[in-house]
Amino acid sequence: MDVLRIEGPVRLSGQVPVNGSKNAALPIMASALLAEGQSSLIGVPDLSDVRVFVELLKHLGCRVERNDQGHMLIDSTVVDNPVGEYEIVRKMRASICILGPLLARCGRAEVSMPGGCAIGDRPINLHVRGLRELGAKIHLKNGYVIAEAPDGLTGASIFLGGSFGSTVLGTANVMMAATLAKGRTMIESAACEPEIADLAHCLNAMGARISGIGSPRLVIEGVSQLHPVEYTVIPDRIEAGTFMVAAAITGGELELINCRLDDMMAVVDRFRSIGVAVEKAGSGCAVARTGPIKPAEITTQPYPGFPTDLQAQFMALLALAEGNSVVIEKIFPDRFMHVAELNRMAADLRKEGPAVVVAGVEKLVAAPVMASDLRASAALVLAGMAAEGTTVINRVYHIDRGYEQIEKRLNPLGAKIYRENA
Ligand code: EPZ
Repeated sequence: MDVLRIEGPVRLSGQVPVNGSKNAALPIMASALLAEGQSSLIGVPDLSDVRVFVELLKHLGCRVERNDQGHMLIDSTVVDNPVGEYEIVRKMRASICILGPLLARCGRAEVSMPGGCAIGDRPINLHVRGLRELGAKIHLKNGYVIAEAPDGLTGASIFLGGSFGSTVLGTANVMMAATLAKGRTMIESAACEPEIADLAHCLNAMGARISGIGSPRLVIEGVSQLHPVEYTVIPDRIEAGTFMVAAAITGGELELINCRLDDMMAVVDRFRSIGVAVEKAGSGCAVARTGPIKPAEITTQPYPGFPTDLQAQFMALLALAEGNSVVIEKIFPDRFMHVAELNRMAADLRKEGPAVVVAGVEKLVAAPVMASDLRASAALVLAGMAAEGTTVINRVYHIDRGYEQIEKRLNPLGAKIYRENA
């Protein structure tokens, strides 16, 4: 089991390229199931979550490989086993996004329920509701979702909002299924995340007819078939935001190559409010902090609000602010596994229901800590770079799910992170 040993404090500076988005790549990989033939996806990051998804697609009958330019080639000519096994799905909740495309392609699908994870429950009631509205017969058996539509799917008007607002992968599943349904589908309260917009653009490049992309109301005119595609996924705004925190928490300055600031306005707004400079620079942006970190109020919301996937990283930064901040988590109310670990590093965080009061401290102090969900783990790496001493992070596999060899990305910028086999 690998650990990361992080020496601090350090000050980062230099240029760092932002990888393709994990959360765009995964549903776009699933969309390849909708078209017989070989699709070529460019910019898919090499992450353990992506490798699990490749294993899943192969299990369904696809041939998947990367060519020597690193493009991911998915040949979905044969999809003869529409079953998402528990052994694979339990490793990666996002596997649920094969349900819609399998149902549309094969007329049936069996996919293991995702189950819970470190950030809380991962219900799929909205996914099921949306697919049932398209005419699927769905029941649960032995922990599996069994979905059937032997006569195909029929377009419908669907309200897909839940008690936490829109659902990202629920929108992906219903939108993908609707592309091959008979007639028109309207999804109200659709997720507006850039990753869903990217999926919609990819589907349209495959011959789908989707409008309202990026808005809460999507309209999909069903077509009889889709064709394979060559498509480049968007940059990862969550990885970009993580690097921006890295610049700010170490009092350094970084230039991010290939990041879309327009997808990050809520995040940029918060950075600027606490005294961190963020400016457009070429295809990305320049981030620098010279003065003290000011306190802030952060509330996570569906896009275009502040993303829940940057909540932990930003909390690590606010732990060093001059004053008290409040972080409110509205998407995954239990997503606070990082709080106890940051407090081990001399942060002063107090959980109050769905909120955490962050009393700023002068400095963080290195300690052995435990990674949990992938973003909480990233927060510990960020804190370790700012803390005095050597921080050791256990269960590093959580980080590898969302960040490609994070130590190889950060050490050239001045970090001192060493991966060891403990
Ligand atoms: C996606 O998960 C992301 N994963 C998550 O990123 C991200 O945190 C999340 O969206 C929110 O932005 C991928 O894209 C692979 P949701 P998803 O359905 O789609 C509730 C990361 O760090 N809900 O938008 O599973 C749910 O419990 C990961 O990369 C229902 O109630 O999230 C949550 O409270 C972690 N019923 C809220 O909606 C449903 O049927 C938003 O969940 C579905 C969801």
